[in-house]
Amino acid sequence: MRIPFIAGNWKMYKTQAEAEAFANEFVKLYSGTDVRAAICAPFTDLRYLVDAFRGTGIGVGAQNVHYEDEGAFTGEISADMLSEIGVDFCIVGHSERRQYFAETNETVNLKVKKLLEKGIAPIMCVGESLEQRDSGELYDFVRTQLEEGLAGVEKDDLPKIVIAYEPIWAIGTGRTATPEQAEDMCAFIRNTLIEIYDEESADEVIIQYGGSVKPANATEIMNQVEIDGALVGGASLKAEDFMAIIDF
Ligand code: PGA
Repeated sequence: MRIPFIAGNWKMYKTQAEAEAFANEFVKLYSGTDVRAAICAPFTDLRYLVDAFRGTGIGVGAQNVHYEDEGAFTGEISADMLSEIGVDFCIVGHSERRQYFAETNETVNLKVKKLLEKGIAPIMCVGESLEQRDSGELYDFVRTQLEEGLAGVEKDDLPKIVIAYEPIWAIGTGRTATPEQAEDMCAFIRNTLIEIYDEESADEVIIQYGGSVKPANATEIMNQVEIDGALVGGASLKAEDFMAIIDF
């Protein structure tokens, strides 16, 4: 049984003072829900959020990690640094990181494996551009992202990974994929995982949709069979909106 999982992606928003204000409000709203929730926040907010969410069931995620254990990598953060402060999740391969920070399937793969080794659950993002969708390349493109991003990941580790399908053209644009488009690709992703691994382990993987998810469209997205959750950017910045999505 896959438990619905809604994660917020704060991107480069919220100072610690702003994170505190959010947490105070959100912790009061969240109690009693049976949907899993997490906030993926800037590094500077993580320690505070782990403390603020302790005992609530709300998870905390980072948005990036380096794939080496340690070293002369100015400005980078290691998986040990994240796990020591109690971080549960880490987004990898977000399209913004692929576009602006040269993240590739190869570095995504190294990060996924490092996170698994250190006990942090990767939220691995995949998704096509509008040109790829229009030219019909979308399936091949996403399949390659999955094959290369998961290369060398053992079958037993697969259920620990969350896959987020985020069509690039739907991120921050207000243009959501239709529930049918989202369901179609999430089903394709699950079938690809079945081909690479097997039905049993692929069945356990949480597949999220991301791209302009908001309270008004959360229900129809979450009602799709192959969509187990959402990765929410803009609408995760307000506790009330994020809670409305969790309550889909
Ligand atoms: P959005 O962002 O909800 O603001 O479209 C989603 C994401 O980038 O994860």
